[in-house]
Amino acid sequence: VIRNTFRTALLFSLTAAISIGFVLANYSRRDNGARQEHTDPADQDNTAAIKAFADVARVLRHQRCLNCHPNGDRPRVGDDRIVHRMNVQRGPENKGMDGLHCSACHQTENQPGSGVPGAPTWHLAPLSMAWEGLDDHQLAQALIDRDKNGDKSHEQLLEHVAEDPLVGWGWEPGEGRSLPPLSREEFVAAFKTWLDAGAPLPPKGKTSY
Ligand code: HEC
Ligand code: HEC
Repeated sequence: VIRNTFRTALLFSLTAAISIGFVLANYSRRDNGARQEHTDPADQDNTAAIKAFADVARVLRHQRCLNCHPNGDRPRVGDDRIVHRMNVQRGPENKGMDGLHCSACHQTENQPGSGVPGAPTWHLAPLSMAWEGLDDHQLAQALIDRDKNGDKSHEQLLEHVAEDPLVGWGWEPGEGRSLPPLSREEFVAAFKTWLDAGAPLPPKGKTSY
């Protein structure tokens, strides 16, 4: 009898120990799960801002913008981004070579007859503002780098994308030229969302569009 009672007690405590272990394991698993789902409000803001930046990048990488923000010394033309004909070159001030300035052909408005695009101060973006070949991280970094962006603060950058006539030309490029994937208003709003969150940099090595 004594041996039986002892065995029952042993069995009981073993069962109890296993149940407690099971409950504890489950509890800690639930706790882990909860910890994984939990996100800081700050992280959430960054996620929205980085998503907004992907929209910004979609526009910046569109032909209308990239053709004037090329890597080399030649503007690009058209949706297939061919090198500008007539040996047009960047020149020392991004306005063409002496004798063949951009303004020799490009006026302050599109020329419907000849198809020459135009807007006030038509010239090439300086090399520090070349976006070709940059991933999202590098692109974001270049935009806010005052050594590269023409010494623009966040407010001045936003003003530039909202007001500048060369940016505006992208949405009024003349017949036969495609438009950026967002409206200018949507683009400016996305830019603002990104800047308002402190212009967080997207992860390295990724290109959203
Ligand atoms: C005709 C050429 C031209 C076109 C087209 C053009 N840009 Fe630019 N862009 C420039 C020049 C030149 C500058 C430098 C202006 C300055 O610093 O004041 C510039 C500067 C910028 C800057 C600020 C500098 C920087 O790198 O952050 C932004 C942003 C910008 N452009 C956006 C755009 C967008 C968006 C489009 C298309 C919708 C576009 N640009 C189309 C010539 C162009
Ligand atoms: C000899 C005249 C001439 C000169 C000089 C000239 N262009 Fe052009 N450019 C044209 C013509 C014509 C077109 C239209 C070509 C077409 O659409 O097939 C054009 C188209 C462009 C486009 C294409 C826009 C797009 O998205 O399709 C860009 C960008 C451009 N020029 C930039 C410049 C810049 C910057 C300079 C000065 C460094 C310059 N051009 C000098 C005649 C000229």
